[in-house]
Amino acid sequence: MSKIVLTGIKPTGKPHIGNYLGAIKPALELVEKYDARYFIADYHALNTIKDPILLKENTYEVAATWLACGLDPNKVLFYRQSDVSQTFELSTQLMCFTAKGLMNRAHAYKAIIQENKEKNRDEDFKVNMGLFTYPILMAADILLFNSEYIPVGKDQVQHIEIAADIAEAVNRTYNKELFIIPKPLVSEETMTIIGSDGRKMSKSYNNTIALFLEEKKLRKSIMKIVTNSQSIEEPKDPENCAVFSLYKLFSTKEEQEKLANKYKAGGMGWGEAKQTLFEAINQQIKPMREKYTTLMQNKDEIDKILNTGGEKAREIAQEKINELRKAMGF
Ligand code: TRP
Repeated sequence: MSKIVLTGIKPTGKPHIGNYLGAIKPALELVEKYDARYFIADYHALNTIKDPILLKENTYEVAATWLACGLDPNKVLFYRQSDVSQTFELSTQLMCFTAKGLMNRAHAYKAIIQENKEKNRDEDFKVNMGLFTYPILMAADILLFNSEYIPVGKDQVQHIEIAADIAEAVNRTYNKELFIIPKPLVSEETMTIIGSDGRKMSKSYNNTIALFLEEKKLRKSIMKIVTNSQSIEEPKDPENCAVFSLYKLFSTKEEQEKLANKYKAGGMGWGEAKQTLFEAINQQIKPMREKYTTLMQNKDEIDKILNTGGEKAREIAQEKINELRKAMGF
């Protein structure tokens, strides 16, 4: 039997090119080797999104994105967190094995407390219990499904370590391997995906390029990438250039060499370099964008896929809950 890989996707905004290269593509590559379980962490999004229409729409967008990028629901268990109510039962159980101090040390929570202190506000300003207990809910997502590997970005590694700590506490208490101890799977690629302003592509910097922009808007968004003020004639340095750094992610070695030579030779303006980048990105994304658009026009289709996944997920989850209830004396 293959090992289980699981990850949660928070539906908090339109997926961008950085998400595609850094998270979606690598996670889909794991599907061949592992028993993959990928879910939409909509309850995690409730912490920040209180608009029901937006939450629903974001959920469809994320689901359609992953399906369009090649997630095959026959190979991957694909579901909404909110469809697996066992998650919330497990979360309550796990609370009783989680020291408050462990939550106090979580980076995301600590950062907010720190910010409040610096701004001379009450340190709990805008901290709700959903935020404080966020790592416990995440541990429940993971432990419910016997997950062994959790592909995540570096910012989530601490959460996986917390999940492992909680799992160990439960196993120790009942002297039984009730939970598999999860391990983070951080992709080897240390390459940072550069955003339109030359910094790391991130929603918090407002420098992202959305993945499924319509063609004209994609071109416009690429034309806005910040470059220097060198003239057309001047030779240019491909190495310190946001345009080239993105181009590398969408081209073959030969294509990269060809464009690098054009940079160094001079005679090519930024508009032309950006056009080359646009064509490379567009060529790769076009078939996925078409699939995405079709899915977003057929939300019933998305619901059908997620509902089927939810049904299977609940079955697996209930088994785990039964085992735990028995061990705990319920
Ligand atoms: N917290 C993760 C994020 O913000 C999303 C998430 C929720 C998750 N539950 C998970 C990731 C379980 C991995 C496993 O990106």
